[in-house]
Amino acid sequence: MDTRALLQELNERHDRLSPCKLKESATHAVPGDGNPDADIMFVGEAPGKNEDLEGKPFVGAAGKFLNEMLAGIGLKREDIYITNVVKYRPPNNRDPLPEEVEACMPWLHDQIMLIKPKLIVTLGRHAMEHFVPGKKISQIHGTAFRRSFDDMGTQVFYALYHPAAALYNGGMRETLMKDFQKIPAVLETLEKERGGPSEKAV
Ligand code: URA
Repeated sequence: MDTRALLQELNERHDRLSPCKLKESATHAVPGDGNPDADIMFVGEAPGKNEDLEGKPFVGAAGKFLNEMLAGIGLKREDIYITNVVKYRPPNNRDPLPEEVEACMPWLHDQIMLIKPKLIVTLGRHAMEHFVPGKKISQIHGTAFRRSFDDMGTQVFYALYHPAAALYNGGMRETLMKDFQKIPAVLETLEKERGGPSEKAV
């Protein structure tokens, strides 16, 4: 089976067995979208209203902004894989509860292990917190970190502000766009090096 078929099977299995309580109120699961063989995986927070209706991540205003930034570095949605920490919409777009994040996390870890991206770009505070805990997004945005996990081995994370938060905030928007522009250079550096021991990757 190719990665696409394996990923579809993985997503269907997790949706079927998910212990996340948000499943009860959601219209659709939003497992993820894009290229299962991508070098770059984007991880947002949780689906919003439009995502819940379509079953696809980042299809609303934040998604449009994300597509524009991708185009700015010569990429299309089909070149990357995009998903969220939480796979079901929290009611009224409230922040996901810690138990909802915990319930959805094995799904995300399994996706990462199957896709094996070279770089995981976290969008916003919630996505970053699980992988790079104890840091402030305002201090580490635009920085890549290498972290090791029992199940997923060593992965590299690049923290960005969330496009929805930056959309209507001029200063944050500019910072996000600048950090985004650095993604190809981060990837190039990772491809050149052999994964040294430093916790700060790039
Ligand atoms: N915000 C997110 O974090 N994820 C989506 O899919 C849409 C908006």
